Amino acid sequence: MASDIPGGLEGVVAFTTEIAEPDRDGGVLRYRGVDVADLVRNHVTYSEVWGLLVDGEWGNPLPAAEPFPLPIHSGDVRVDAQAGLAMLGPLWGFEPLLDIDDATARENLARASVMTLSFVAQSARGLERPAVPQHIIDRSPTVTHRFMTRWHGEPDPDHVRAIDAYWVAAAEHGLNTSTLTARVIASTGADASTALSGAVGALSGPLHGGAPSRVLPMLDEVERTDDPRSVVTARLDRGEKIMGFGHRVYRAEDPRAAVLREVARDLDAPRYEAAAALEREANQVFAERRPDRAISTNVEFWAAVILDYANVPVRMMPAMFTCARTAGWCAHVLEQKRSNKLIRPSAQYTGPAARRPDEVPGWDTI
Ligand code: ACO
Repeated sequence: MASDIPGGLEGVVAFTTEIAEPDRDGGVLRYRGVDVADLVRNHVTYSEVWGLLVDGEWGNPLPAAEPFPLPIHSGDVRVDAQAGLAMLGPLWGFEPLLDIDDATARENLARASVMTLSFVAQSARGLERPAVPQHIIDRSPTVTHRFMTRWHGEPDPDHVRAIDAYWVAAAEHGLNTSTLTARVIASTGADASTALSGAVGALSGPLHGGAPSRVLPMLDEVERTDDPRSVVTARLDRGEKIMGFGHRVYRAEDPRAAVLREVARDLDAPRYEAAAALEREANQVFAERRPDRAISTNVEFWAAVILDYANVPVRMMPAMFTCARTAGWCAHVLEQKRSNKLIRPSAQYTGPAARRPDEVPGWDTI
């Protein structure tokens, strides 16, 4: 039966929010009213931005993570972070959001957030290398530096800058799929780390958080062939999507892509030239083939270049996006808690009309 319900809830306004909502036509993204590009250009750290998103003001950034071992090593960094978060609630005795006040919920979210970063760093370091001594980690001046130190030892300051820029740019993006997931779970009154863990699962798919890892093979091909146009057209001719392009919301350039392009250029990222060439050609091909729909670079395209610059391996990229977006999830979980309303929409039923059990095919097999 035909239905006029929009696929993928496209265009559906589900809540009001005071945190952020991308501006579809203007190509601007503001956190609590502040342009993300200004935050990145002013080198505001991820930890400060976490405070801005969650509290709506400066001055209450993330605390340092507590020394706490990663509970599980599955071999996949993102899975380890998701599983670690799921176990944090019972291990640390987080009460359901329904049963605690806002201040306790905020504290639980902050503790779970920095543990997400810690779990990712511990998982990425692996079991083969001994853990970096705690007193070295404790010398780190910022949460991002701390993450890098836990992962690798003393980091290159430009790598810390690159990661901060990416984490700030990707920290929040309105009602994207993983944030909606976090809000749905929070609306049931579940505990804070369970809401974050569920959101990590939503972000794992290639159409959401898995895109950067699929961008680099295209850049390899551009460098190998020096023919960016064919790299794009061959994929489109095979019916594939070009990863790092297109967006559900923006019909202008994704503002996060624009500012991360600047960062990649300033840092002299090794993939900058190949990426810029691919971007130019892809934009042109999309303009020719899809004049009906503005498809251009999204945040994940330039994120891949920046993460590659900071020596983040491809398999770790979804986990790096997880770290970034934890800030937005926390802000939304708290906003959802305050609204105190179970999220439970309805579907339009389009299945079979009422019938007896023996009218369902296969009745004689049971
Ligand atoms: N490559 C090729 N074609 C594309 C692309 C792309 N990257 N993006 C959109 N299109 C085409 C689709 O094939 C579709 O064509 P059709 O009308 O002939 O069916 C049309 O544009 C609309 O695309 P949808 O996928 O329906 O658009 P939607 O708004 O649902 O999806 C999405 C947005 C999922 C991001 C899409 O653009 C995409 O798959 N991009 C590639 C993956 C990617 O980069 N993901 C990261 C997103 S950013 C983030 O999550 C932080």
